[in-house]
Amino acid sequence: MTKFTLTVATSADGFISRNTDEPPQAWASAEEQALFFRDVESADWAIMGRHTHEAADRPLRRRIIFSTTKSGWQRPTQLWLNPGQTRPDELADLVGSVHPLGDGLILGGTRVHDWFLAHNAINRVHLTVEPVVFGAGLGIFSGSSGGDPISEFTSRGFKVQSDVVLNAAGTRYLALVRQEGG
Ligand SMILES: NC(=O)c1ccc[n+]([C@@H]2O[C@H](COP(=O)([O-])OP(=O)(O)OC[C@H]3O[C@@H](n4cnc5c(N)ncnc54)[C@H](OP(=O)(O)O)[C@@H]3O)[C@@H](O)[C@H]2O)c1
Repeated sequence: MTKFTLTVATSADGFISRNTDEPPQAWASAEEQALFFRDVESADWAIMGRHTHEAADRPLRRRIIFSTTKSGWQRPTQLWLNPGQTRPDELADLVGSVHPLGDGLILGGTRVHDWFLAHNAINRVHLTVEPVVFGAGLGIFSGSSGGDPISEFTSRGFKVQSDVVLNAAGTRYLALVRQEGG
C-alpha cells in the first residue's frame, strides 16, 4: 500500500507561491531545500501538476504529472495523467512496471493537494514555513487565500508531530500526520 507524503514550503501568510511559474528555491531557505531534496531522494515517485513540473523540469526524475492536455509516458520515467477518473490507490499499478510506488511524494500545486485531500490519501505532511510574507499568491488548497499555514492542515484533521526551528531567520519545519478517522 502506497504511503503519500505531502511536502510543501509556504510563506508565513500561507502561500505556496507568488505565481504559477516561480519555483520555491527563489525564496525558500537553504535548510528547506536540503530537507526537500531529502524527501525527493527517498521517494519512489513524485506527483505534481503541470506547472510545478515545468517550473523545475528534471528529465531523469520519476514523476507522475497531472494534466488535462497530455497523457501517457512522455519520457521513460514520466507519466502524464488526467486524474479525473483515477484514485490515489490506483497510481501504483500505473507506474509499477517502471518502478514500484511505495513512497509517493506529493509536490503540489494547489489542485494536486486538493485531489489527494479529497481522496483522504495524504498520510504525512512535511511543512516548512518561511519567514516571508507574500500578501497574495497560490493557496495550499483551493479556497484558502492566505492565513496561518499550520491551521490549514490542523483544521483538516492533521496533527502536529514535531515542530522545529531550522535557522536564525526563524524558518519552521513541521511534521504532521493524518489523525485516525480524519
Ligand atoms: N512552495 C511549494 O512547496 C510549492 C509546491 C508546489 C508548487 N509550487 C509552485 O506553485 C506553482 C504551481 O502551482 P499551481 O497550483 O499553479 O499548479 P500545478 O498544480 O503545478 O499545475 C496546475 C496544472 O496541473 C494540472 N492539474 C493539476 N491538478 C489537476 C487535477 N486535479 N486534474 C487535472 N489536471 C490537474 C493542470 O494542467 P493542464 O493545464 O495541463 O490541464 C493545471 O493547469 C509553481 O510556481 C510551483 O513552483 C510551490
